[in-house]
Amino acid sequence: MSAILEIKNLDKHFGGIHVTNHVNIAFKKGEMSAIIGPNGAGKTTFFNLITGFIPSDEGTVTYEDRDITRARPENIVKLGIVRAFQVASVFLEESVYDNIYLAALSHFRKNAKVFINRMAFKDAREHTEFILNKIGLFDCRDLKASELSHGDMKVLDIAIALTLQPKILLLDEPTAGMAPDERIRMMGLLKELHEFFQLTTIFIEHDMDMVFGIAEIIRVLVQGQLIAEGPPDYIRNHETVIEAYLGKEVL
Ligand SMILES: Nc1ncnc2c1ncn2[C@@H]1O[C@H](COP(=O)(O)OP(=O)(O)OP(=O)(O)O)[C@@H](O)[C@H]1O
Ligand SMILES: [Mg+2]
Repeated sequence: MSAILEIKNLDKHFGGIHVTNHVNIAFKKGEMSAIIGPNGAGKTTFFNLITGFIPSDEGTVTYEDRDITRARPENIVKLGIVRAFQVASVFLEESVYDNIYLAALSHFRKNAKVFINRMAFKDAREHTEFILNKIGLFDCRDLKASELSHGDMKVLDIAIALTLQPKILLLDEPTAGMAPDERIRMMGLLKELHEFFQLTTIFIEHDMDMVFGIAEIIRVLVQGQLIAEGPPDYIRNHETVIEAYLGKEVL
């Protein structure tokens, strides 16, 4: 497996806080990986930097051998690095179907040449039904988004991200606020989507059952620094990680 996304010497300060501290990571193509670390460690900021939401102070981000360090967020999305939107971006008064359809239509229209623009409607409809089935929301398709459970809302969020045909899917705390059974469902879903769409998946998560359950590689950020990376068994037994984050009880 070769690196699809390479982060070199990435650095960011917010005022006096060194929130990303010379981070180097090579994400391998097809990898399912987790980023963990205490609150305020800089995990979300790291996503903001690689998706172009905020500029870095130093360092480079290379995607499939292309320098995207200063690329605009919408161009980064077009290249295939997609972040699950926050729940706020779901249209609460629209149906589940329309939420996915509108995202798909916008995606296909952007990518369609003018003379085949009409095809975009058909493509978007087919894609919407495909995603609804794949993600398990087909039976809820006519519900308003606001009528969904918290767990299904997060799933809809991921469905919308999938309409953009990502190669790399970034998820910031996909199980936040979920009940235990919803977490287990999300875990299975992410694994399935990862394999089916042949994604490179990077998720930030505080739920260690999920992290140790599905991540092939775990990376630990503490105060902006990458303090460890490796497979679950390596991280579970890593002394600095245990001291800084996991605590003894996880063992
Ligand atoms: N736009 C900003 N301006 C100033 N400071 C910020 C900004 N965004 C984040 N920070 C600060 O940077 C630090 C890292 O925040 P970040 O949100 O990246 O942490 P996190 O690891 O995602 O935490 P959590 O697990 O709580 O989500 C925090 O101290 C935060 O207050
Ligand atoms: Mg965060």
